[in-house]
Amino acid sequence: MAISFPDGFRWGTATAAHQVEGNNVNNDWWAWEHADAGVCVEPSGDACDQYHRYPDDLRLLAALGFDNYRFSVEWSRIEPEEGEFSRAELDHYRRICAECLANGVEPVVTLHHFTTPRWAAADGGWHDERIVDRFARFCERTVDHLGDLVGRACTINEPNVVAFLGYQMAVFPPGLIDADLWRAAYGNMIAAHRRSYDVLKAGRGEFPVGLTLSMTDYQAVPADDPKAVEARDLVRHFAEDIFLEACRGDDFIGVQTYSRSRYGPDGQLPSEPGVEVLPMGYEYWPQALEATIRRAWEVTDQVPVLVTENGIGTDDDAQRQAYVRAALEGVRRCLDDGVDVLGYTYWSLLDNFEWAFGYGPRFGVVDVDRATQERRPKPSAYWLGAIARANGLAD
Ligand code: BGC
Repeated sequence: MAISFPDGFRWGTATAAHQVEGNNVNNDWWAWEHADAGVCVEPSGDACDQYHRYPDDLRLLAALGFDNYRFSVEWSRIEPEEGEFSRAELDHYRRICAECLANGVEPVVTLHHFTTPRWAAADGGWHDERIVDRFARFCERTVDHLGDLVGRACTINEPNVVAFLGYQMAVFPPGLIDADLWRAAYGNMIAAHRRSYDVLKAGRGEFPVGLTLSMTDYQAVPADDPKAVEARDLVRHFAEDIFLEACRGDDFIGVQTYSRSRYGPDGQLPSEPGVEVLPMGYEYWPQALEATIRRAWEVTDQVPVLVTENGIGTDDDAQRQAYVRAALEGVRRCLDDGVDVLGYTYWSLLDNFEWAFGYGPRFGVVDVDRATQERRPKPSAYWLGAIARANGLAD
């Protein structure tokens, strides 16, 4: 079936500073990667050296056919010690925005993508309430320096993941399992989103601002079992709803979806027999994007949805194309039902540092030679770039 998308629908790819820049030595993740008895399989090191290679990456992205690039600025570079702002690093990110625009690519700038400066982490990071003012001040300085070149801003990437993996699972820094600190952390992240939204809107430039949320297709099994529904709803309330509710009235909500999670009357269920489990440990379930777009639209009271991440970590590039095609069919059904979906962003442009998993999972449409940093677009890069150009898919 051929599918087309509305005029103005946006097509992009995404990365995050720590996953691609290399040598982000001044944040909590670098420390976490090097901790004794840590959970990370390897350190990020040079990553994709995008700190130096961004002009080539932007040329490649534009040549492939994408019209926007979602990337993040690294707080620990811009503010290496509390209150000390680096003009040189702000200039660096200004150059990236300018280079995007020179290539006809809209810069979609994320202010916080998982990494926190060491000095702020030493004070407790997200569970210490001072972070709300500190993050707002960092946003103010950053927007003051490059806001006129920003196309769209994302405040905090996946606060639900930072809080859950950092304070319930000990997989992200600060590596704790503590319900009180988890509540403090997500509360501070919601407060920081609201503050930074106002700061970014009031600052230099005119651009839409929103939060990007990790979303999962939470299913009750059987769907009409009240106990299964109750178990599912409780988890989903803290994982997603409290954040979506805090984003009502924003310019857009960034939906980031990879898979589903099933709940029976007694809690979470294992993967369904016959459904492939991907190397990330979750099911191959491209239908999740449609379900989560609909839910974000509903719970936010109809904030426009931008898919800011969707993708698959696989060595099988044909499987990547099948996954994206199925996901896009779901996007089209949402549009048909009147959901305002603004665009689709594939995670990721490059194979990159997948946090505690290291360089194993390969989400990129572009392969990166780990020894030489050579970029080699995969067939999916040309395939998705052609979809972007055509604003649709042929049969
Ligand atoms: C994050 C990315 C990550 C991706 C794939 C999202 O949760 O924002 O940083 O690489 O998922 O796991």
